[in-house]
Amino acid sequence: MDLATALRQASRRLEQAGVAAPRLTAEVLLSALLDRPRSYLFAHPEETLPDGLAASYEALIAERAAGRPLQYITGRQEFYGREFLVTPDVFIPRPETEHVIEAALAVAFEARRAVDVGCGSGAIAVTLSLEMKRKVWATDISLPALAVAAENARRHAAQVELVACDLASAFAAASMELVVSNPPYIGEEEAQALPREVREHEPSIAFLGGPDGLAVYRRLVSEAARVLRPGGWLVVELGWNALEPVTAMLETGWEEPRVWPDLAGRPRVLAARRLREAS
Ligand SMILES: C[S@@+](CC[C@H](N)C(=O)[O-])C[C@H]1O[C@@H](n2cnc3c(N)ncnc32)[C@H](O)[C@@H]1O
Repeated sequence: MDLATALRQASRRLEQAGVAAPRLTAEVLLSALLDRPRSYLFAHPEETLPDGLAASYEALIAERAAGRPLQYITGRQEFYGREFLVTPDVFIPRPETEHVIEAALAVAFEARRAVDVGCGSGAIAVTLSLEMKRKVWATDISLPALAVAAENARRHAAQVELVACDLASAFAAASMELVVSNPPYIGEEEAQALPREVREHEPSIAFLGGPDGLAVYRRLVSEAARVLRPGGWLVVELGWNALEPVTAMLETGWEEPRVWPDLAGRPRVLAARRLREAS
């Protein structure tokens, strides 16, 4: 079978299974299998796909048709222009989380001590460390996730110190100048409506935020108040409808709240500064 035929058949199968962007998905999986850029497929449509590879390709297409996220099949996801290893042990970094980077760099580029709470694949911590050109701490409660973050830090030669702990509990009071986090923020009701890809494949500890989706924010805000120095910044990604309740959590002891919208115009990131001591 030639590449063009393989792609056509795979794309049809994915479409029948209700997979979004079936043609693109078929191309991404074939280029990953051949370890070639997608442009190679367009330049060599007549090239023969050997039987062994054709069978492997079919298996990959079957996995995706059964609902396994593309990123877990290829083991890759791009974030802020860099490629990250992702496995089913970690949340797949989302493009909207790039606004967390944008906000953190805007308010606290000079921060000498920064921690990413709930680092997952390490996408935020690795990116901040490379952009700020200094060491960044990163925590997670999941040991398998920390192993993936360690591999990503190694691949990018980023200075990231990983810590296994609950939120930021391993750090001393007033020891940080920046706390960033994309915490689990999906509530029970919202979880029912999640796409099957997320519900059945991504680690639930990475996205479930208690009955109302705000449980981790509540603990995170008080932990951030403890570990931040006066004048230090908290930068958090916001879930659906989280702006108002999270802003309310920051009413006492915080100042200069700022909001960043995502590309759809929804409030996506909230930053606030730990109150500086009265002079
Ligand atoms: C939404 S994911 C974000 C992952 C990554 N920062 C990103 O943006 O792609 C939330 C992460 O928080 C971690 N987590 C959940 N509860 C935690 C806790 N109590 N303490 C530390 N990490 C926690 C999960 O294991 C998961 O890796």
